[in-house]
Amino acid sequence: MSQTIRLHDKHFTPYLEHVDILAGIERLAEDINSRYSGRVPLVISVLNGAFRFTADLVTFLEIPIEIAFVQIASYAGTSSTGEVNIIRGVDIPVRDRDLILLEDIVDSGRTLHHFCSYLEKEQPRSIRIYSLLRKPDVVQFTLPETTVAFDIPDRFVVGYGLDYDGLGRDLNDIYQLANS
Ligand code: IMP
Ligand code: MG
Repeated sequence: MSQTIRLHDKHFTPYLEHVDILAGIERLAEDINSRYSGRVPLVISVLNGAFRFTADLVTFLEIPIEIAFVQIASYAGTSSTGEVNIIRGVDIPVRDRDLILLEDIVDSGRTLHHFCSYLEKEQPRSIRIYSLLRKPDVVQFTLPETTVAFDIPDRFVVGYGLDYDGLGRDLNDIYQLANS
C-alpha cells in the first residue's frame, strides 16, 4: 500500500485499498442483480464524486439498466436545511421507473434528501440509494432505503472519485485526513 500523501496543505494516510473497494462494490452489484432481477432500473449517478464508483459498479451488473448522470451542489448556507442546487438534472423520464441513485459518500445526507424529494414529485415506482461510503455518526437527513459498501468514521477522505478542493479524485485507493 502506498504511503502518506499530500494534497494542497493537508496530509492523508492510506485507508481503503483499491482491491477492497472493488470487493465492496461487487457486493453492492450482487444486491442490485438479485433485487432488480427481471426489471430495467434507471441508474442515476451523482457527479462528480461517483464517476469511478459508477464505472466499476456497472462492470458487475448482470441485469439491463439505463443510466443518467446528474450534478448537484449543496450549500450549507445559514439555514438548517441548507441549499441544494441541481446543476444538471435527469434527462430521462423517471415516472414509474425503479430509480437507483449512486453516490460516493453520504455525509449529512442533505444533498440526497433534497434530490430525492425532487424526484418523488415525478412519481417514480421506487427509489433506492447505493453509496460507496457513509459516515453514520453524522447523517442528519432522512433518506430512502440506503445500501452502503463501507460505513466509516467522521473523518475527511479522498481518492477514488472523492476530492479535497479539486485534487485526489484520480487516486485508486482511499485516504483519510492525517492527525495534525
Ligand atoms: P452531504 O450532502 O452532507 O451528505 O454531503 C455529500 C457530499 O459532500 C458528497 O457527495 C461529497 O461530494 C461531499 N463530501 C462529504 N464528505 C466528504 C469527504 O469526506 N470527502 C470528500 N467529499 C465529501
Ligand atoms: Mg458527491
